[in-house]
Amino acid sequence: QDVRLWGGRFADGPSEALEKLSASVHFDWRLAPYDIAGSRAHARVLHKAGLLTAEELAQMTAGLDQLERDVADGTFTGTIADEDVHTALERGLLERLGPDLGGKLRAGRSRNDQIATLFRMYLRDHARVIGGLLADLQEALVGLAEAHPDVAMPGRTHLQHAQPVLFAHHVLAHAQALSRDAERLRQWDARTAVSPYGSGALAGSSLGLDPEAVAADLGFENGSAANSIDGTASRDFVAEFAFITAMTGVDISKIAEEVILWNTKEFSFVTLHDAFSTGSSIMPQKKNPDIAELARGKSGRLIGNLTGLLATLKALPLAYNRDLQEDKEPVFDSCDQLEMLLPAFTGMMATLTVHRERLAELAPAGFSLATDVAEWLVKRGVPFRVAHEVAGECVQVCEREGIELDELTDEQFAAISPHLDPSVREVLNVPGALAARDGRGGTAPSAVAVQLGEVKADLARQ
Ligand code: ARG
Repeated sequence: QDVRLWGGRFADGPSEALEKLSASVHFDWRLAPYDIAGSRAHARVLHKAGLLTAEELAQMTAGLDQLERDVADGTFTGTIADEDVHTALERGLLERLGPDLGGKLRAGRSRNDQIATLFRMYLRDHARVIGGLLADLQEALVGLAEAHPDVAMPGRTHLQHAQPVLFAHHVLAHAQALSRDAERLRQWDARTAVSPYGSGALAGSSLGLDPEAVAADLGFENGSAANSIDGTASRDFVAEFAFITAMTGVDISKIAEEVILWNTKEFSFVTLHDAFSTGSSIMPQKKNPDIAELARGKSGRLIGNLTGLLATLKALPLAYNRDLQEDKEPVFDSCDQLEMLLPAFTGMMATLTVHRERLAELAPAGFSLATDVAEWLVKRGVPFRVAHEVAGECVQVCEREGIELDELTDEQFAAISPHLDPSVREVLNVPGALAARDGRGGTAPSAVAVQLGEVKADLARQ
């Protein structure tokens, strides 16, 4: 028996080489449950259109239910000769219902509108999974911030000491980026809640089927595709998903890079939990931050999935082209990688030990309070240009003498500028510098507490 859905006009079967090239069943089999759900909804609109009797609909639905069970427990699987998941499942249905009834289901639909619909369903489900895992990571970051509400650290720009910030402020900056990623997933989901089923191969159906009913049946809140050509040919929803997952990977990679640095002997800001680090096969002392490194590596892979996909889509004429079969593996991979990475990464973040004393000790190093000297002068009416110069000179003297800013003598201050009386020392301490930055978004403990509340409220809404 010919399993092909298109054998009629061919005198010869496909060459082995074509069969191998054409097959997608080895990667699109994961869409089988969605294909069966689509088939059930399709059977109902065929019945509504008078193309299946009530009796036939009941048998068809029972057949699809049986097929679904057989797929779930592995009794039925697709083979390379099936070409793709749609063909395999039609074979499965024919085997269960016989050709007369089983052969009726394909009326008014095409693999083109099927795949476009199933792919949306699959990605929407995984957007939810990834969103949940992302929330776990955000919670781990919130936990870190909450556990260290008063720990100062050296804030950096250009990786150089810049100004002291609260450790919680720094960690919550990463949480903000992740909550935008989660928001992007939710907004993408709303845009993707449109069903192409009923678009047929490209032109719609002459059978009086109801695409809106199928859309409602399959949980597409925003109805069916407004244009059947666009419905079958557009893949911007895939590209956007690939972007969001790549961006998420990049945001995680940025955290990863810091964890790798912080975990070095030189930084000694954090220690990773044994359960979330690895050893070396030759150097017995080694404890490596492999999860963070894999996160950094995987982000490159996620970016590759996005760029590869965009290259596939570029310059495709309307409507469906077989090139589109190349759209699935990249984003399936993005889902798989992120779903594997996130739990490990979250575990690493949730269990790392923060070395408060080390962070606090380095917070004022590198003359990171020089801005505070300048701003202290500004508050006394000195123009900022002058204040900047004066504070810069303080740094120069300190560098020459090998001392810190608060170690300058009254005489040295006075020699640099008459404005610098000894009371400048008021601002030459980290808690003062932090507390002074109490505007919205700032690093003062009070401002960071507000930020923490906002991130938690955002998490509660997700
Ligand atoms: N397997 C195809 C894909 O992944 C769907 C089938 C459409 N095939 C076709 N010859 N029109 O895009």
